Amino acid sequence: MGVGFGKVILFNEHFVVYGLPAIASAIGTRTTAFVEKQEGSGAEINDSRPETPGYKAEKLHEQKESLQRMLKFMNIDTEHNHFKIALSGNLIAASGVGASAASCAAIARAFSDELDLKYSDEQVNHVAYEGEKGYHGTPSGIDNTAATYGGLIWYKREGTSQIMERLALRKPVEIVMGNTGIVADTKVVVADVKERKEKSPEKYAQIFKDAAELVQEARRQLVAFDLQQLGISMNKNHELLRQIGVSCDELDALVSLAREHGALGAKMTGTGRGGYIVALTPGTKLQERVAVEIERKGFQALRTRIGI
Ligand code: MEV
Repeated sequence: MGVGFGKVILFNEHFVVYGLPAIASAIGTRTTAFVEKQEGSGAEINDSRPETPGYKAEKLHEQKESLQRMLKFMNIDTEHNHFKIALSGNLIAASGVGASAASCAAIARAFSDELDLKYSDEQVNHVAYEGEKGYHGTPSGIDNTAATYGGLIWYKREGTSQIMERLALRKPVEIVMGNTGIVADTKVVVADVKERKEKSPEKYAQIFKDAAELVQEARRQLVAFDLQQLGISMNKNHELLRQIGVSCDELDALVSLAREHGALGAKMTGTGRGGYIVALTPGTKLQERVAVEIERKGFQALRTRIGI
């Protein structure tokens, strides 16, 4: 058996692709994988993860490519063996919660378990990174790192290497994640940002500078447990993400709704143009109030915590 953690990016998705630091947290839900070696050849995935309608069908092609990449990277002999892979767990397969990365980390661990490969977390992370390339060509590595290690992390890519630091929160904090129900394509959105950045270098240089400063402030606020200021920083981060064109009307509406009902801050999270928002709602009362309002508008709300 193998597990991969679901995650929320609290600061600097997209900017992280270009080497800026980002902050992510596990969200307490996970994907599990079982691998069974059988006679025959090839590999198949039986995917019974809960999902946002349409997500699994839309990602099927990428999931296959991802699996092939991981099998090759792990040197698995699929000519003389058949591998049956079963995916399940309580992480909803949807955009914005690291579903693909969680499945990659879970699959890597499940192969290690079945074939007694004794992978360290670092090796699992390498395999999962390779798998993530099947979902989009130039992953920053934050999703597979969060999926592999869990916890609250500071992440930065430097060339081909990556820096991951664990951050400690005084105590876990309630959040609400609101699901637009829209399946996003990371490959398309990341490529779009690249194109816009190349077209307007000056405008983007300023936005990236702001994002670089903001994430440092956010780190200090997290560690100091200054949730009021942290919420304000999340709002600012959402604005920067809007400026690079990765939000959408549904995300903006959910962000506004969460703020109107008392969230200390709210932003889109992950790829954007669909997927989830994250709202900072310390205390179960505030969390419930915001979650209920999101549900009242017909969207799914996930009540969870960061820093667990
Ligand atoms: C997707 O969860 C996060 C992005 O920043 C892409 C990446 O980091 O590879 C949009």
